[in-house]
Amino acid sequence: MDRRGFLKKIVKLFLLFVSLVIVPVFFYIYPSTIRQKKLFFLYLSDEDSLPKSGLKRFDYQYSIDDRTITGYVFIKKDGDELIAFSPICTHLGCLVKWDNHRKEFICACHGGKYDINGNVIAGPPQKPLDRLPWEIKEGKVYIGIRQYGQDI
Ligand code: FES
Repeated sequence: MDRRGFLKKIVKLFLLFVSLVIVPVFFYIYPSTIRQKKLFFLYLSDEDSLPKSGLKRFDYQYSIDDRTITGYVFIKKDGDELIAFSPICTHLGCLVKWDNHRKEFICACHGGKYDINGNVIAGPPQKPLDRLPWEIKEGKVYIGIRQYGQDI
């Protein structure tokens, strides 16, 4: 093999390496910067249904691209303060449940626990539950949801 043929082979191997290794690793490490999630506000309930104090679960459902998306959020009311918690465990993304007896969010996957403010109290999660944006317009509560893909 001559020198020119050898260099061509090296360049081809380098490009193959980039396409098979570097690009997937880059997309794995920076998925959210590449795949922009769009924020939209979804009607959740009437303002009258909000808890006067404490925590309440709200289920929601919407359709996009012939798919029905269901989910839920937790709303905590403490005086004038309103906090919307995502139910997605910050460890590996399982859904947490509220244990009203223990006053804790429980993640059944690996034993993660959060207090009523979403702070980690046990298990492997390193970050508190995410707080979602919300708004109240004309007596209706809307919750900010991030969705990959097109607007709904
Ligand atoms: Fe919740 Fe691991 S996914 S503790």
